[in-house]
Amino acid sequence: MNPHNASVFPGVDGIPEEFRLGKRLEQRSYLCDGEIRQWDGPFQDVLSPICTVTPSGPARTSIGSYPLLSGKQSGEALDAALRSQDGGRGAWPTMPVEKRIGCLSDFAARMMESRDEVVRRMMWEIGKSLSDSRKEFDRTVEYVRDTIEALKDLDRASSRFVMEQGVIGQIRRAPLGVVLCMGPFNYPLNETFTTLIPALVMGNSVIFKPPKLGVLLHEPLLAAFRDCFPRGVVNTVYGDGRTVVGPLMESGAIDVLAFIGTSRVADLLRRQHPKPHRLRCVLGLEAKNAGIVLSDADLDTAVRECVLGALSFNGQRCTALKMLFVHRGILESFMGRFVEAVGRLKAGMPWDEGVQITPLPEEGKVESMKSLIGDAVSKGASIAGPGGGDAVGTLMNPAVVYPVGPGMRLYTEEQFGPVVPVAAFDSIEEPLKWIAESDYGQQVSLFGRDPEVIASLVDPLVNQVCRVNINSQCQRGPDTFPFTGRKDSAEGTLSVTDALRVFTIRTLVAARETDDNRRILKSIVTGRSSRFISTDFIF
Ligand code: G3H
Repeated sequence: MNPHNASVFPGVDGIPEEFRLGKRLEQRSYLCDGEIRQWDGPFQDVLSPICTVTPSGPARTSIGSYPLLSGKQSGEALDAALRSQDGGRGAWPTMPVEKRIGCLSDFAARMMESRDEVVRRMMWEIGKSLSDSRKEFDRTVEYVRDTIEALKDLDRASSRFVMEQGVIGQIRRAPLGVVLCMGPFNYPLNETFTTLIPALVMGNSVIFKPPKLGVLLHEPLLAAFRDCFPRGVVNTVYGDGRTVVGPLMESGAIDVLAFIGTSRVADLLRRQHPKPHRLRCVLGLEAKNAGIVLSDADLDTAVRECVLGALSFNGQRCTALKMLFVHRGILESFMGRFVEAVGRLKAGMPWDEGVQITPLPEEGKVESMKSLIGDAVSKGASIAGPGGGDAVGTLMNPAVVYPVGPGMRLYTEEQFGPVVPVAAFDSIEEPLKWIAESDYGQQVSLFGRDPEVIASLVDPLVNQVCRVNINSQCQRGPDTFPFTGRKDSAEGTLSVTDALRVFTIRTLVAARETDDNRRILKSIVTGRSSRFISTDFIF
């Protein structure tokens, strides 16, 4: 990419018709208490990472706006959520599981109607490529469907009594109450819904605040939420976190905080809650996953997976490979191929065929990447390959930086962008020590061929991170696998089945085995007078 060539950004005519925005996206609505309400207060302007060429260079395009709600509206959302729970008596938390599943199935069908619009907005709001935006949407719908199947299994397993030591019991999972869901900008739909959907279907009421970038793409789904769930069960808040989220946490009425973002914000939110034992936190935070390329690695595989792992969606994935350790014996051949492969990545607009590098949505991101690179370069590193780190507006060529070592910010800080730090190692103790001393503990990738060596590394590494990938990039999927992290990387485990557990608590009904109690329980079951005391089986 030529850093002076602003024509990488298209004029309207250069945008395929189906992806043009046409008119500005002025969101005036928010969902509260089963109603789509109109807002006439202040708005947040939405700047797309896709720039417009102006005489002074490329500038982010203003594509619309969304409501900047006040504490009053977030208070109303909380009241609505609490009313829908009604101290455990609400229609939603007491609804039979099969009916709740029905609501969610209807929602999944309605979601599909908005696919093209959500995908189009995702490209404009966060610069995600068309194919990745579609993947994110489809993966989310699949997640909803898998959640339904997992819940059926969970419910089937609980549809029986347990008789132990003269006590009859029925054990199920019950909702926790009101869940505040906040997702990240890089997977604004998927990562919000991987907490929101399980929380919801387990009988909780939800207040969700979309990430700062990636708000408008949720708007086409508001009507489906309103129509498919009882009033007050799903509520949205938009705006400045301090204004709308602060009062929610300070109220002490939030039972679960499901937050994917930085540990700094997570800690701030948690501290605002006056009842720390009431609050359960489900957190997905920073990571600095290492890729370790051993001396016998298959270089084709290692290069392919490291490029994908480090630079898919411009490195803006929590699971991205954010530090590469390469054995010195193969450093030269690895670097030659890796830098060449990175140089071949196609930069462009999200809808361009085969595009891999797209505009960065965060304000000041190119500058912050350049500052990380500058710090490393000032301490002895260089950018490998031509054009690395060059940028036009929000579009930045990936930079491979070598050698990165102690004292450089890139050695320890999560970059969350298109910069790949590389270090050479002579002894495996060097990357192992780095991992043990890191503030983060999400995943690692090992590239090598000797089973003995791999085995000897897996055993200590599973005690440092939560997934060891062999000859494969780090990633979250498949979504049925547990996804979590140690240290500052996560709290709680998410997967299709784990999420159903995380948003609930085990609760049981127990009775001494007496004739009277047997009679009572039998009558409840045959009369189907309780949702909880029930042997109904979902077929
Ligand atoms: O940003 C973190 C995402 O959960 C990563 O998911 O590995 O499927 O891209 P992914």
